[in-house]
Amino acid sequence: LKTSDIEILNKAYPRDEFSNVTTKVVGFLGRNIYLQPHHPLNLVKQRVVNHFYKSFVNRRGNPLFSVHEQLQPIVSVSQNFDSLLIPEGHPSRNKSDCYYINKHHLFRAHMTAHQNELIKSGLNEFLMIGDVYRRDEIDRTHYPVFHQIDAVRLISNAQLFSENNSLNMFEEGNNTAFTGNQEKQACHSLEAVKLLEYELKETLFQLAKELFGKDVKYRWVDTVFPFTQPSWELEIFHNDEWIEVLGCGIMQQAILNNAGVKDKIGWAFGLGLERLAMCLYKIPDIRLFWSNDTGFLNQFKDKECTDEITYVPISQFPQCKHDISFWLPDTGEYSSNDFYDLARNIGGDLIEQIELIDNFTNPKNGKTSHCYRITYRHMEKTLTHKEVNKIHKKIESVVNEMGCTVR
Ligand code: PHE
Repeated sequence: LKTSDIEILNKAYPRDEFSNVTTKVVGFLGRNIYLQPHHPLNLVKQRVVNHFYKSFVNRRGNPLFSVHEQLQPIVSVSQNFDSLLIPEGHPSRNKSDCYYINKHHLFRAHMTAHQNELIKSGLNEFLMIGDVYRRDEIDRTHYPVFHQIDAVRLISNAQLFSENNSLNMFEEGNNTAFTGNQEKQACHSLEAVKLLEYELKETLFQLAKELFGKDVKYRWVDTVFPFTQPSWELEIFHNDEWIEVLGCGIMQQAILNNAGVKDKIGWAFGLGLERLAMCLYKIPDIRLFWSNDTGFLNQFKDKECTDEITYVPISQFPQCKHDISFWLPDTGEYSSNDFYDLARNIGGDLIEQIELIDNFTNPKNGKTSHCYRITYRHMEKTLTHKEVNKIHKKIESVVNEMGCTVR
């Protein structure tokens, strides 16, 4: 092991200019809270899985979908991006948005990263479940690691047009070039796409009803993903606001062709488990999912996934706010996510939120300064001023590692 290497799960990766994983984030590997019996994320996961087991069965009554929830969270750039036709330079590849081990490997940013390998292995219907990692802002709904369920269903011409086999799901010419046409890909027939869209939306709408009740208010919003076309988001009206619960669409045919499947078309979706669990159980803060506190976990301990559960806050301990201002480096190589990670590495889960409250550029020398307000709060006790000051001072003392100078 060279000192320049990064060691993760007993494997050494050479460090390079892309490396930005933090010790805090490496520490999440293997926690597998979504596999922990009666953990709220596990309960929601089970409800979603059961919906698919029930909705899609073969002639013998056995479930069509297989579940894959032990896939390794460290993936290659080609799994996470290239295999999904995400172009070079696409914003989702940015260093400021992902946890890279080096320029070849990263902590998967979505479960879709495994789509290609599972299709290549010959599966037609499957669910992929696991932890995903993204650099983001810090507040009660964002955390550097969260969980997703992704799904794929592939369908052949005979399955799709059972009674009328003169219909074809492919257009003459089989053109898979990207057109940006929201209605359909050039290689697909409109009949096929509409049938698939119907099955996809109906399946997900039934899932929404199953989770949020039959009167759930919902809407479909057109969107764009590099790996599906057309693409949609499902939004649910909950607590007076529209919240996005999943992304989905008709899979790019080029992805299937590349995986060796030339005679099927498919749909795919990906949904976030934390958001669902927070709505369903009224969990107010995403950090709670990582708590080992029995005051939290015991509220789910003897529950089944079909039970109605409302989380009762253990108690709300007071917040403590501190500001920090610093000059950004002249190199221009700075993103707020760099500061969020640095602060999170020191303050951990004691930091509830960080807001950028002032962004100022001095007209004389062109130097930019940022001021952030850090909200500290412990989930299980009241923090003393001394404890908070110690952490805040420590954060002030290391901002120079990013080339910044405290004002
Ligand atoms: N991977 C997408 C995301 O993380 C979700 C998605 C999966 C969308 C599959 C379409 C198809 O937001």
